[in-house]
Amino acid sequence: MPEFTTRDPSQAAFWDERFAANFTPWDQGAVPPALGRWLARAALAPGARVLVPGCGSAYEAAFLDAAGFAVLSIDIAEAALARARAVLPADVAGRVLRKADFFAFAAEPFDAIYERAFLCALPPRLWPAYAARCAELLEPDGWLAGLFFIDPAPPEPRRGPPFAMTRAELDALLAPAFECTEDQVIASGESIEVFAGRERWMVWRSRG
Ligand SMILES: C[S@@+](CC[C@H](N)C(=O)[O-])C[C@H]1O[C@@H](n2cnc3c(N)ncnc32)[C@H](O)[C@@H]1O
Repeated sequence: MPEFTTRDPSQAAFWDERFAANFTPWDQGAVPPALGRWLARAALAPGARVLVPGCGSAYEAAFLDAAGFAVLSIDIAEAALARARAVLPADVAGRVLRKADFFAFAAEPFDAIYERAFLCALPPRLWPAYAARCAELLEPDGWLAGLFFIDPAPPEPRRGPPFAMTRAELDALLAPAFECTEDQVIASGESIEVFAGRERWMVWRSRG
């Protein structure tokens, strides 16, 4: 593992340093199959506004764009966006990518937020702000859908990223503003090593 100087994952510099060093052990290298399965059964109309926060390489942004959604794929780290520009066709990158801080950018409400390895990238002290921000960014009845890193007994003290959480901790965060409508274990073969056996596909509907 390379030597890094930054230790605080709430800072862009933390992520810039790791993308620049090509150290991205969270990167699946592809669109998680669970996203395609959800879109096949989800009630998301073409043109629906979908946010991909902390997009990293942004494979899903191209997939969602090709499916006809109005995608905004954001990342706080310039090096992450450079990686995404290398992954996405130039026209798609120009359409969907934006450098922005999830907690501070201005936008019209979204119909859905797609989550993968963003919540677990945030230090636990920021989890309540994540939940509040998701609720704020979604339309009434909007969807927070994606892959969550759930561990029944996360190692203490919590170390990360990725920071695992228990299902009870996720419930405490999201249940006040969201109803959980799907919760499925991801088969180990569909997860990369760092998440294997502890990744769940979940859909949370905003209570508006
Ligand atoms: C662990 S990576 C996950 C990337 C991608 N979602 C994936 O599944 O490969 C977390 C990403 O969140 C980004 N990030 C961290 N804090 C952010 C913030 N406040 N706003 C936007 N992006 C942020 C990082 O730059 C990094 O690209």
